[in-house]
Amino acid sequence: MDILEGIYTRRSVRKYTGEPVDRPMVMEILKAGSWAPSGLNNQPWRFVVACDRGKRSELAKLTRYSRILEDAPVAIAVFLDRSAMYNETKDHQAIGACLQNMLLAAHALGLGAVWLGEILKNSTAVARLLDVPESMELMAVVAVGHPASRDQRSERRETGELLLGEF
Ligand SMILES: Cc1cc2nc3c(=O)[nH]c(=O)nc-3n(C[C@H](O)[C@H](O)[C@H](O)COP(=O)(O)O)c2cc1C
Repeated sequence: MDILEGIYTRRSVRKYTGEPVDRPMVMEILKAGSWAPSGLNNQPWRFVVACDRGKRSELAKLTRYSRILEDAPVAIAVFLDRSAMYNETKDHQAIGACLQNMLLAAHALGLGAVWLGEILKNSTAVARLLDVPESMELMAVVAVGHPASRDQRSERRETGELLLGEF
């Protein structure tokens, strides 16, 4: 898939078929995430993959988007390793790039994914549930599965509205 086509056709996918996602695909999504740019190439992202139904159900209790996490065969928690940080803003920006790469990779693999941020209200409970070291700060959970449909629509403001200046 062409990169621009991937960017424009990716949509948040919140409904999945029951089909499991093969582990090599999950690993490819993590690899794509890890190829995001980061300041000083410090690569501050860390991942926990939850395919186990029981674990996903526990995760689901920590967000109002519980149905998504119950239905998606894979949930990937993305953490910022605070012990690898060098700059608060730039490290958070790097995690955003990592997450976007993951969403685009899922799309390129024919999968559907959605970035779940609402669960951050319970980030301490998520970290405890997933048994990660103290230095890990939850950035998002990405739900991944085979899309139940491919007719999601989304909108964006016209580029001209966003352009503050041109010199
Ligand atoms: C920081 C962030 C947090 C988000 N949190 C959620 C969420 O908790 N639940 C959800 O269903 N979608 C969530 N989304 C997905 C957005 O709703 C979605 O990207 C937006 O509506 C645009 O739709 P599109 O991705 O299909 O283009 C989040 C996206 C971002 C970038």
